[in-house]
Amino acid sequence: MYRSRITGLGFYVPENIITNHDLEKYMDTSDQWIRERSGIEQRRFFTEGKDTVSLMGARASEIALQRAGLEPKDIDFIIFATLSPDYNFPGSGCLLQRHLPFREIGALDIRTQCTGFIYGLSIADQYIKTGMYRNILVVGSEIQSNILELSTRNRDFAVLFGDGAGAAVVQRSDNPRHGILSTHLHSEGKYAEDLVLEHPGSNLKNRMSIEIIQQGKHLPFMRGNAVFKHAVQRFPEVILEALEANNLTIHDLDLLVPHQANLRISKLVQEKLGLRDDQVYNNIQRYGNTTAATIPIALSELWEANRLQEGMLVCLAAFGSGFTWASALIRW
Ligand code: UT7
Repeated sequence: MYRSRITGLGFYVPENIITNHDLEKYMDTSDQWIRERSGIEQRRFFTEGKDTVSLMGARASEIALQRAGLEPKDIDFIIFATLSPDYNFPGSGCLLQRHLPFREIGALDIRTQCTGFIYGLSIADQYIKTGMYRNILVVGSEIQSNILELSTRNRDFAVLFGDGAGAAVVQRSDNPRHGILSTHLHSEGKYAEDLVLEHPGSNLKNRMSIEIIQQGKHLPFMRGNAVFKHAVQRFPEVILEALEANNLTIHDLDLLVPHQANLRISKLVQEKLGLRDDQVYNNIQRYGNTTAATIPIALSELWEANRLQEGMLVCLAAFGSGFTWASALIRW
């Protein structure tokens, strides 16, 4: 059986920086509240006409491909995770396929929100292990600033999210000691409405109406406290599940790269697991929560800082809407 290895990483964030002070102009909030409750200091918002989810994914992919020493024609399959596709259909993977000179390869969209990148990595890993594909591109890309209502009624949600994209090249490896050791995927649909964007959905005859807009139901809804409570339980669970599945313990772990939802969540998870500050990577301060893109952006930054050293044990973990939660354990 083959092993899959991440051999290239890249990210792209829009140039438009929005600070907490900028948000104070639109709603009753403060830089202090946002920093204390979430750790966020700034985020990026896209520029219409310049950035689209698939184009941002393509920009991140170009960097990842270059670092892996591959060209678009070498890629066998595209996996694209996003909750904010360019179109309702077709999927953003197909749109990415036309942005770069790929062959006429398969392109799959993933809809598991914050866990999308890890779900994508898991799918890539299975295709590579079975020998079906050699080189797979896994992308997480989001434009969320245009579903944020910058007003006081939506302030708990609006201050958390940002736009960005990250990409990873996953390749077949001949070295059995390195690569993705295992992935662990979970969902619990009974909590779907605790973090949801309901409209436009297919369950109504009129997918969009004035009433829906007036009631604000075209905007995302989040029961923040419930999400927080479940997250701090599921993160440690799924990290320990990955370690146990490989007969390893938390003492073997070198680096945890958690989905960036809230710095307080990351800190509580770190505390529960007894990890040091230098063992947990956080960059939510600069980008906010970019949903499917947080983990590939974080990995790209670690790559650029030369912090992903061969032989390190790295765990990726995420929790979010669905609810879904997931982990991937990697011997770098
Ligand atoms: O990727 C996964 C998706 N999302 C998450 O993981 C998010 C999980 N949840 C959270 O991160 C937190 O629950 C929030 C950051 C959303 C909220 O933090 P909290 O500490 O749970 O605050 P809270 O909802 O309990 O609200 C505390 C107070 C409330 O005022 P009162 O009722 O105490 O007077 C809110 O109205 O803070 C108020 N508040 C704000 N104040 C200033 C809520 N949002 C804001 C805001 N600025 N932006």
